[in-house]
Amino acid sequence: MLLDQKPPGVTAMGRGTTWSPRRRRRGFCIDIMVALAAAIALTVLYVNVVTWAQQPTLVPWALPPIPVGSIVPSGWMLGEMETMAQGLAGHEHDFYLYVNESRWLQPAGTGGYDYSRLNEALPYWFNGLVPLAYLLDDDRLKAQVHSVATTVLDLQTEDGWLGPEVPSERNFWARAPFFLGLIQLAEANSTWKGPIVGALHSFNTLANSMLHNSSQGHRICPPDFECYWGQTRVHDLMISIQWLIDNQETGDSMESTLVENMQMFYDQSDYKWDKWYQEGTYLKIVDDPTTTNPLYPYLHGVNVGQGLKASAVVRRFSHDDSLIAASLRAVEWTMIYHGAPSGTILGDEIEQDLSPFMGSELCTAVETAYSLAYLYHAIGDNSYADHAEVVIFNALPVMLTGDMWAHQYLTQPNGPWAAINNEDYNHPDGPFLFTTAHSGRATTFGMEPQYPCCTVNHPQGYPKFVTHSWGYVGTNGLAHLLLGPSKVSTPIATVECDTAYPFDLTLRYTITSLESFDFYVRVPSWYINDNSDITIDGRTSRLSADPGNGLHKITISAGTTEVTYNLGAIVREESRTNGTVAVFYGNLLYALDVGSVNSSSYPHAFNDARGAGFDDLPFPQVRDYYFNNTKPWNVAIDPRTLEYHGMQPGVPLPKPVFEYGGPPNYITVQGCEIAWDLHLGATPGPAPAPANRTCLSPKSTFRLIPYGSAKVHMSEIPTIYF
Ligand SMILES: *[C@@H]1O[C@H](CO)[C@@H](O)[C@H](O)[C@H]1NC(C)=O
Ligand SMILES: *[C@@H]1O[C@H](CO)[C@@H](O)[C@H](O)[C@H]1NC(C)=O
Ligand SMILES: *[C@@H]1O[C@H](CO)[C@@H](O)[C@H](O)[C@H]1NC(C)=O
Ligand SMILES: *[C@@H]1O[C@H](CO)[C@@H](O)[C@H](O)[C@H]1NC(C)=O
Ligand SMILES: *[C@@H]1O[C@H](CO)[C@@H](O)[C@H](O)[C@H]1NC(C)=O
Ligand SMILES: *[C@@H]1O[C@H](CO)[C@@H](O)[C@H](O)[C@H]1NC(C)=O
Ligand SMILES: *[C@@H]1O[C@H](CO)[C@@H](O)[C@H](O)[C@H]1NC(C)=O
Repeated sequence: MLLDQKPPGVTAMGRGTTWSPRRRRRGFCIDIMVALAAAIALTVLYVNVVTWAQQPTLVPWALPPIPVGSIVPSGWMLGEMETMAQGLAGHEHDFYLYVNESRWLQPAGTGGYDYSRLNEALPYWFNGLVPLAYLLDDDRLKAQVHSVATTVLDLQTEDGWLGPEVPSERNFWARAPFFLGLIQLAEANSTWKGPIVGALHSFNTLANSMLHNSSQGHRICPPDFECYWGQTRVHDLMISIQWLIDNQETGDSMESTLVENMQMFYDQSDYKWDKWYQEGTYLKIVDDPTTTNPLYPYLHGVNVGQGLKASAVVRRFSHDDSLIAASLRAVEWTMIYHGAPSGTILGDEIEQDLSPFMGSELCTAVETAYSLAYLYHAIGDNSYADHAEVVIFNALPVMLTGDMWAHQYLTQPNGPWAAINNEDYNHPDGPFLFTTAHSGRATTFGMEPQYPCCTVNHPQGYPKFVTHSWGYVGTNGLAHLLLGPSKVSTPIATVECDTAYPFDLTLRYTITSLESFDFYVRVPSWYINDNSDITIDGRTSRLSADPGNGLHKITISAGTTEVTYNLGAIVREESRTNGTVAVFYGNLLYALDVGSVNSSSYPHAFNDARGAGFDDLPFPQVRDYYFNNTKPWNVAIDPRTLEYHGMQPGVPLPKPVFEYGGPPNYITVQGCEIAWDLHLGATPGPAPAPANRTCLSPKSTFRLIPYGSAKVHMSEIPTIYF
């Protein structure tokens, strides 16, 4: 479409330049001059065009994104992503059969591995590894994603299908994460753009005929195949279609095919998230949390995480602004009725209620974070950005061991141990702790505890946060949207943000630009105005953020500028159920430190949880881990005594930072042990009623630590007033 949403310079840059980090560092000055000249020319064109243009095909982004590769992590986030590259995520292509011998890497119907007929393992991996490889400029991982992309594109059939299904088995779902990987690759490396655009065009031509042919592969699926996965998640497929339109990679006839595809995908779906989030339809409490509930597709935690952004995606082509309210409702209701303090969604398979022992999948955390980052760019409401940070700083790291060789399938707000639960395994008819997790290993850490989906889906978490962490504002503005250490290079300016945020609340920017421009920093909703300020080349001023998008604007002159941004905060308590609180400082959640002791074993296949485990994997680091607490978990606290202890100046953060004992910050509080029953003899039940909280131990000082480092933890803590 016609330059509807990107600053002119971006379009000029995006077309003619290789977006690799290496090229950018060398060629930046030349690039920027070319870009600026083009920008001036295009601004004239832009002004002319908008005066006569029809409504753009897609509603513009509120905060247009910046191409993958233009933002790179630094500081602790670089440390986390390097650890991920050196851990399980970065070695799956070396040994994990669902990746290295995926069905996607063979001609359709000729073999290969996957864990289900959804054929989603390689697509999930690809969606996370492309940005991980490019943001780290890691040649080993780039070679892996290039090899997979080459193989899959080479195997595209005459009629345009991409993927391992023979014609009678075709269905759309697993295309969605694979195509998200492809569009990230095309942005990160212009060599790939042509082949990827070509492949997506022929695929969409085929999709158009399938949708016209009684919705083959979408509403009509192969026999015994659950079509609802694709339908509830079809907006993720629409994102790759919208990318083609945003990047003007279409002719007129292709564009009308693409728009028609999006409309048909929406119209032909039995599951429409904007209809779900309506009073009277939406389920605040789920009485039948089983997979036979006809509403299951709307209740599955991962679907909900993905679906949070659905209405905002549909709005881009439908131009129906009522979908903004639907998007806000989706997030608000999900968090009120099914939210965890760590920002993720409670629903071990299926949402139920707010019980503090409810499980939440690692896949749900990364999908929720991506949806929130997408929503902030699409709609620009500050609440999405704070929420995205909460998920990435808490819900994601708590489910990964510090070295990221092992992960959890389910976490719980109150989970003081991560152990084998023999009860679940031995009683196939229930009662179960979780709705589906009957291997008894759902909360242990490992290679593929309970199910392999999160093994392959978790790597997208940090990289997508980083690629969404900056954005444009108007035609001459650049904004730091999701806070944390990173560097961004754009035609407008290059900016380095040096910070330990969220462990410390000072952000230092070094900005280089050839022209004056508008620089924006996001102001989190919890900031304390009196203790916050921003200093530009020695001049300090107070913050005044836009009440909608939360951005504080400053004008930066040409040249090099230093900006120091200080956020003030106080300890916050959020009320949880049954007289408990969750404790925050900034966007870090703090959990009761229950100590940590572990043992480990060979890693188990998800479908052989009680076997001996694999003793022949090429990486001895791949193991399953079991954790217990070493300190009391049954503690009530007096919130009036909460006291924050921040970082010592000059002491660097450890790498990796989210190891038990890693982050230097902590909170102290007075409390005592109370009587507290287990649920099903396995895990802490609801907190005892306030009237029944009497101290079993003398009052003493307890420590709360950043939740992401507390692999076993209590985060919904009962209150008691001494
Ligand atoms: C871009 O992709 C091509 C083809 O795979 C590869 O040869 C080249 O090294 C890549 N560029 C960068 C900067 O990674
Ligand atoms: C995939 O990894 C396994 C080890 O788990 C190895 O035996 C096999 O040769 C690998 N396959 C390929 C195609 O590299
Ligand atoms: C429509 O789909 C059916 C079932 O897959 C297939 O047999 C038929 O050839 C398709 N028709 C067209 C015109 O593509
Ligand atoms: C609150 O406690 C009561 C009594 O133990 C329990 O029935 C209820 O499920 C609890 N609520 C939640 C949301 O856990
Ligand atoms: C945790 O405690 C249980 C029960 O006491 C015990 O069987 C298990 O071995 C312990 N695991 C670890 C890792 O300490
Ligand atoms: C297990 O415990 C040992 C000893 O305390 C520790 O060094 C190691 O980091 C722990 N492993 C994990 C995965 O937490
Ligand atoms: C307090 O505990 C007693 C004894 O267990 C129980 O009978 C009573 O119902 C509890 N009170 C509340 C408010 O839960």
